[in-house]
Amino acid sequence: MKFSFSSALITLSLVFSGIDAKTVWKPKQGDSWNYVLESNSFNLSKEKANVLDMDFNIKQSLINNIHKANKKVICYFSGGTIEDHRDDKKKFYNVKGLVGSVYDGWESERWLDIRKKELKPLIQNRMQIAANKGCDAIEVDNLDGYSQPENKKLKLTKQDEINYAIWLANTAHSLGLSIGLKNSLFMINEVGKYFDFAINESCVNYNECKNYKNFLNQGKAVFGITYGNVNKLKSKICQNTSGLNISMIVKVSQSLVQEGTTFNISSQCKSNVKTTTTKKTTKKTTTTKKPVTTKKTTTTKKPVTTKKITTTKKPITTKKITTTKKPVTTKKITTTKKPITTKKTTKKTTTTKKTTKKTTKKITTTKKTTKKTTKKTVKVVKVAKKN
Ligand SMILES: *[C@@H]1O[C@H](CO)[C@@H](O)[C@H](O)[C@H]1NC(C)=O
Ligand SMILES: *[C@@H]1O[C@H](CO)[C@@H](O)[C@H](O)[C@H]1NC(C)=O
Ligand SMILES: *[C@@H]1O[C@H](CO)[C@@H](O)[C@H](O)[C@H]1NC(C)=O
Ligand SMILES: *[C@@H]1O[C@H](CO)[C@@H](O)[C@H](O)[C@H]1NC(C)=O
Ligand SMILES: *[C@@H]1O[C@H](CO)[C@@H](O)[C@H](O)[C@H]1NC(C)=O
Repeated sequence: MKFSFSSALITLSLVFSGIDAKTVWKPKQGDSWNYVLESNSFNLSKEKANVLDMDFNIKQSLINNIHKANKKVICYFSGGTIEDHRDDKKKFYNVKGLVGSVYDGWESERWLDIRKKELKPLIQNRMQIAANKGCDAIEVDNLDGYSQPENKKLKLTKQDEINYAIWLANTAHSLGLSIGLKNSLFMINEVGKYFDFAINESCVNYNECKNYKNFLNQGKAVFGITYGNVNKLKSKICQNTSGLNISMIVKVSQSLVQEGTTFNISSQCKSNVKTTTTKKTTKKTTTTKKPVTTKKTTTTKKPVTTKKITTTKKPITTKKITTTKKPVTTKKITTTKKPITTKKTTKKTTTTKKTTKKTTKKITTTKKTTKKTTKKTVKVVKVAKKN
């Protein structure tokens, strides 16, 4: 009953309000964040970040405590794949043709046919649970299935991903949830306006943070994560985020535990800040208008204009990152690296991204589930050693 009622509500509100999300929480640019999908040993009293991205399964009591501490929670689940450990997975398997091939490298996940209408109530149900629990926002992962070689059978198209992403955003908003676009930069121009913020892994490594320029110019927050040693990465992060007000967290490994270093671009990249402050001319106003969000993020945007700081030691940083990833990824390494080298091809980028993502997830899954497969264990151990 509850379900039909909320469906009706959703339908109604979509009809009348479209993407209107005024009442939904919108993170601000510059908010500090932490990515803690693995929260078993999460200790709120030592957490400094204001925005926490945690697994959808976290307990309501933790969410309540996070709110008491004046922080916000983004709840993570995959919407493009079915994850083995989700309570509702049977319902997905019960829909004929919905569950497809294994996500290459992520044996605990399978691609979903995101065009199936039967998928919508299942996802909507999760969103409702998130809303009921008090999640302020959701992050829906794996919206790039159309480009995955192992997922060819489903013959998904970019347009399918776009349609699904827009539906996700509208549905989240109708339930009072904010929603972030996870990776999937290939459609940011088409769907960016429907989303309230974005989350990105490794844009610094791939020299792609600048692809968020337009999105940032809409006044929306971008939460980035970089893996590696923060001291060694500093100049690289500063260079790559020059003029881009991305909230960055740095973690030594791709295991998304609480430990990490908030990287404050304003205070740690002096030249970025100066540039930003000084350059505020007139220009921005024009750029700013399109954004649905309205507010004039004026201060922030100009930075885009910034010159690329000449200083740095790119080589050093680059290398290390590479080193870090290989171990983690293990088997996929072969696949992964090629892309990196090639970088300029669109495909490569995609592949690379996935790897990053996958690694993170696997680790998370492994720990949570306890059912460690041999392979996974190996990966985890390796990660630990690296650090
Ligand atoms: C949580 O962190 C606080 C502050 O650092 C510390 O005093 C407390 O012992 C920690 N709690 C646990 C269970 O580790
Ligand atoms: C990012 O935006 C926040 C909020 O507007 C602002 O305080 C901060 O100075 C900005 N940082 C940069 C590097 O532009
Ligand atoms: C980042 O540093 C700036 C300048 O020191 C400061 O105003 C701002 O509050 C810091 N942001 C966070 C999230 O700590
Ligand atoms: C990002 O960092 C890399 C490595 O330091 C560098 O080669 C590249 O030019 C940077 N990109 C930008 C936009 O600054
Ligand atoms: C992060 O964003 C960049 C564009 O800014 C994108 O090219 C990259 O693929 C994203 N990272 C991941 C892991 O998708």
